[in-house]
Amino acid sequence: MRSDSVIYGHDGQVVNAAWKGNAHTLLQHLREERRLTGTKEGCAEGDCGACMVLLGELTPTHDSVSWRSVNACFLPLSAVHGKLLATVESIGRPSALHPVQTAMVEEHASQCGFCTPGFVVSLYEHYLRHRAPTSVEQVHGQLSGNLCRCTGYAPILRAAESMYRLPRVARDAVADVSLLLRVRSLVDDAPSKLESDGECVMFPRSSDELAAQCQDHPDARLLGGSTDVGLWVTKQLRTLPKVIHISRADDLRAVSRTGSGLRIGAAVCLADAAIELGRDHPELSELWQRFASPAVRHVATLAGNIANGSPIGDSMPALMVLGARVMLRAGGQRRVLSLEDFYLGYQRNALRPGEFIEAIDVPARPDGLFLRAYKISKRHDDDISAVSLALALQLDQQGRIAFARIALGGMAATVKRAPATEAAMLGKLLDQATMRVASRALSEEFQPISDHRASAAYRMRVAGNLLLRAALEHAGETPTRVHCTEGAGA
Ligand SMILES: Cc1cc2nc3c(=O)[nH]c(=O)nc-3n(C[C@H](O)[C@H](O)[C@H](O)COP(=O)(O)OP(=O)(O)OC[C@H]3O[C@@H](n4cnc5c(N)ncnc54)[C@H](O)[C@@H]3O)c2cc1C
Ligand code: FES
Ligand code: FES
Repeated sequence: MRSDSVIYGHDGQVVNAAWKGNAHTLLQHLREERRLTGTKEGCAEGDCGACMVLLGELTPTHDSVSWRSVNACFLPLSAVHGKLLATVESIGRPSALHPVQTAMVEEHASQCGFCTPGFVVSLYEHYLRHRAPTSVEQVHGQLSGNLCRCTGYAPILRAAESMYRLPRVARDAVADVSLLLRVRSLVDDAPSKLESDGECVMFPRSSDELAAQCQDHPDARLLGGSTDVGLWVTKQLRTLPKVIHISRADDLRAVSRTGSGLRIGAAVCLADAAIELGRDHPELSELWQRFASPAVRHVATLAGNIANGSPIGDSMPALMVLGARVMLRAGGQRRVLSLEDFYLGYQRNALRPGEFIEAIDVPARPDGLFLRAYKISKRHDDDISAVSLALALQLDQQGRIAFARIALGGMAATVKRAPATEAAMLGKLLDQATMRVASRALSEEFQPISDHRASAAYRMRVAGNLLLRAALEHAGETPTRVHCTEGAGA
């Protein structure tokens, strides 16, 4: 292989594609170079789903290929290096439509058609995963990253059900393990670095290789899923001369259970991390469902969310109250920081040059934990938080709060613990009276800002109300859902 070409498998063929630098997106390659124009560009930021394609990778046991939807608009072409790709063109032909496509036609689920390929890819992924119609909620979740501006969603939802009534295809277009093995061996025999016009991208295959490359290239930008960094390129037109992809480092793709809890490797995607975290902490399942869309969660990582360090990053409040630690590595040196000590200020963290996050450790769940995580955003699905709050409480035999951790997003320059609020709860019953006291403490220790997502007053009010909500939920008196949309700008 030349050191300036990306290799991937598509529709039974090995594709050798010229690599044109780190701003070269998968979508540009598909539409402009391969003329696969079924994949569309709508928003170029992962929000509309018009660019959805499927990425195939070997499962950890290496016996099958797992296919997952991803957004081609912000993924660099290099993200498919050594992988398989399926586009809407792979799914059916005009003379032999796939049941997903037939159902879309028969249910009149397409009007202008711009969004349709993305919906087809998304529903096709659902079809691969489920052999029978699923709940409406599951279909809503599956389609939460697809927007349609003209048909309306009812016919599309009907298609999601009726596709299962059509004769099932014996072998889907995307089942080719042998092609993937061929692609893998080609890539493994080739240099693990691509270069073109003064830019380069590296693909370490282990954490040791990654550690060495980070030492040699402390100026390189690490890429997990590229769901933050990709937008720096498509929206801010930033250039990235040197990039290191961590997704080929197999040991970083592992989740392991240690004696003291869960260790989530830095390259584990959010969809997989959520499954593992959900086994111990089912209370967090809605939070993960509302983190972006499936196509984003299929590549985005927890490490990327933590390192990016947005004050409204959704994973950090929950991880902080669970006592998560970040495992940092620089060359052969390792150090451990609690997540709250990782942040030094607005978009500043404790990472030193050449250092990276190797894993995130989440301690085992203590007995009697009362855990909640709330996200308040203007839209229910695929939206950015205005405020988020997580709390983890332990009650003693008398039902008094013996231990409290509370963390908030959207209330300060970083996601932050609330020590004074925690202290105000200790020794008290978990009820509304305690939460009113805690809410007053909260208003003294946070000074949120007003921005286009919410006013400072709204943020403060809603954070206090979330504490009350937790008490009501504990008492079994769940109030009306608090996905407030009204008043966010008031
Ligand atoms: C459509 C869309 C919706 C989104 N919705 C949400 C949402 O609901 N909630 C939310 O919190 N975020 C959301 N995001 C933001 C983003 O998906 C998350 O922050 C995600 O977790 C980033 O992970 P990544 O692996 O893609 O990071 P990347 O984009 O690959 O990297 C982000 C940063 O982390 C650094 N980095 C990555 N891995 C490491 C490592 N191992 N060690 C050190 N540094 C590292 C990179 O160099 C970069 O600075 C959304 C993004 C999009 C495009
Ligand atoms: S173009 Fe909108 S999600 Fe990619
Ligand atoms: S059919 Fe026009 S955007 Fe969906």
